[in-house]
Amino acid sequence: MSIYILGIESSCDDTSAAVIKDRKILANLIANQQVHEKYGGVVPELASRAHQQNIIPVIDNALKKANIRKNQLNAVAFTNGPGLLGSLLVGTSFAKSFALALGIPIISVNHMHAHILAHFIEDEGISKHPPFPFLCLTVSGGHTQIVRVDSYYDLKVIGQTIDDAAGEAFDKAAKIMGLPYPGGPLIDKHAREGNPDAFSFPHPRVPELDYSFSGLKTSILYFLRDKLKDDPDFIKNNINDLSASIQKNIVDILMKKVVEASRQTGINHIALAGGVSANSGLRDAFLQKEKQGKWQVYIPPFQYCTDNAAMIAISGYFKYLRGDFAPQNISPYTRYRE
Ligand code: KG4
Ligand code: ZN
Repeated sequence: MSIYILGIESSCDDTSAAVIKDRKILANLIANQQVHEKYGGVVPELASRAHQQNIIPVIDNALKKANIRKNQLNAVAFTNGPGLLGSLLVGTSFAKSFALALGIPIISVNHMHAHILAHFIEDEGISKHPPFPFLCLTVSGGHTQIVRVDSYYDLKVIGQTIDDAAGEAFDKAAKIMGLPYPGGPLIDKHAREGNPDAFSFPHPRVPELDYSFSGLKTSILYFLRDKLKDDPDFIKNNINDLSASIQKNIVDILMKKVVEASRQTGINHIALAGGVSANSGLRDAFLQKEKQGKWQVYIPPFQYCTDNAAMIAISGYFKYLRGDFAPQNISPYTRYRE
């Protein structure tokens, strides 16, 4: 008999609901929040209010799109952390009351693990699933991790950022150049027209498999301060080259440690996950490794890279198989934990 799971994601600024039938996605809807754009970043209080407005229509539409009735659901999976507390509370509270009313279990999902488990969704856009063990570079707005994945249930961080996340580095660089939030996709867009070798920015020195991105923001700031003295239109005139050069710097930093992680572990099945895996420069760098015969790479389709509830639903499915349900008094957490 098939298992139907409703997945709910509300950890940051996207309200998303998905319905999964075993490993197949029947619906995956996302309500984006435009309200943060003018503030240059996500405003937590506004995010939780917008989640409250969005959550019922998004879930209602997901169930309609999936063409199933509420009482066909076997469980409700929800993001329990890491994320913004007020945002997480909306999804968590809804999941609890909805499941209680239906008399079905709730399943708590780790948002970062879910980004990785999205690789196991069955979808036309996903032609192959990574075999265990594999390494995953998980790059989002809040986290940057190299994870060793030994099973659906055994995920271990072997490297991570000691300060800013890669997505944050993209967004902060974009903000310095006057681009709206979130700037990552805009840097990507401009970079396609620019020369990645036009400008160079330093690489951080961080031991082991860890990352640091906070220095990049400072070096861009000083670099532009000097250039703008001579040419007030420097950013406008060089936005494509600047974007391409910044993107290259971030991608090179990311790749270096993944190459090292692969060398150390002897694992050459390498996956990419998280919002920044939508970046064309990073995708190209991964594909290049595959072309060179060095790695087998796994990159999910765009809609499963950025925050989505399909990844929460598939994670819920694997936990459902184990009977790993959460109690009604479970509470959300803000910082990553394994
Ligand atoms: O995983 P995600 O959707 O949300 C978090 O859990 O943080 O990641 C969002 C991040 C943002 O920083 C956004 O700028 C970045 O992913 N991002 C990109 C691209 N698309 C999204 N960064 C660079 N290039 C892109 N194409
Ligand atoms: Zn995310």
